Amino acid sequence: MNEGSIQLKDVSFALTSNNEKDENFILHKVNLLFQPGKVYAVVGMNGSGKSTLLDIISGLKKPTAGNIYSNEQDIHQNKKPLLHYIGTMGYCVQTPDTAFFHKTVEEELNYSIKDDKKIEKTVKQFNLQKMLSLSPFQLSGGQKKVLQFALTIGQSPSLILLDEVTAGLDKNGQQLIHSELERNKKERITVMVTHNLEEALLSSDYLIILNEQKVVYFDQTEQLVQRPDLLTHWGFSIPQSLKICQELMNEGIFSHQQLYVDNKKIVRAILQEQNERAFKNDS
Ligand SMILES: Nc1ncnc2c1ncn2[C@@H]1O[C@H](COP(=O)(O)OP(=O)(O)OP(=O)(O)O)[C@@H](O)[C@H]1O
Ligand SMILES: [Mg+2]
Repeated sequence: MNEGSIQLKDVSFALTSNNEKDENFILHKVNLLFQPGKVYAVVGMNGSGKSTLLDIISGLKKPTAGNIYSNEQDIHQNKKPLLHYIGTMGYCVQTPDTAFFHKTVEEELNYSIKDDKKIEKTVKQFNLQKMLSLSPFQLSGGQKKVLQFALTIGQSPSLILLDEVTAGLDKNGQQLIHSELERNKKERITVMVTHNLEEALLSSDYLIILNEQKVVYFDQTEQLVQRPDLLTHWGFSIPQSLKICQELMNEGIFSHQQLYVDNKKIVRAILQEQNERAFKNDS
């Protein structure tokens, strides 16, 4: 296991554990390895256990079976490693309302980030100027999500857990979060739950598919984009952009390495191909 990695070994979470037969599993025998510098996207249908998985990875929820190792140390072995682990972790929960504890946005920033210069930078970066004196509960749903992300990332966590953080955000908010995640990606492990498969495929290094309490896929995302049949099998609709990229590959316009890219790059590749064809016809 590499320095800074986190491993889940045979992790299960059940609601009742008195009698093995009566156990109601929410997660069953999950094995995962998270490496620093990598982004992991978690996808799955409603109720498949995604938020529970993040709660477990966060250390805030203890598995009913199995172990979580951070740097080969079992985080639940005693309080000291657990508190250290939780202290280096940042978690944007699915419902931001549960993450605010102070009277104003400014107080939230002071409490979470502490350093004045860093707070100033965060306020500018996430356009929080006009809301500093407001209660976090007076913000719109999207503004709450951006604030929660700003508070979390401002603490420079070495593990960041994001539960549907871009859901319901406008394009600007989504871009703000994606560019920030990309910028300092090397310094941490990022685990993001999303219902947006296009976002998951384009922004992750590894993809985790949860289905009925189990991890049914865990591998490099670039492996999965070559197997859209697997995505269909687990109930996902293939994003239109992935279908277009596959057609471009079939036509020889895209190479294997380029199999899945965003729309801007698709357009650039088509224009380049057009220019090359025009040049060949002219000469
Ligand atoms: N405290 C609890 N008591 C009873 N059932 C629970 C509890 N917590 C979670 N569950 C159940 O566990 C399952 C997984 O819940 P979880 O919130 O992890 O799903 P999810 O994949 O995040 O879903 P969504 O996409 O809707 O956010 C659900 O069926 C849920 O009802
Ligand atoms: Mg959830």
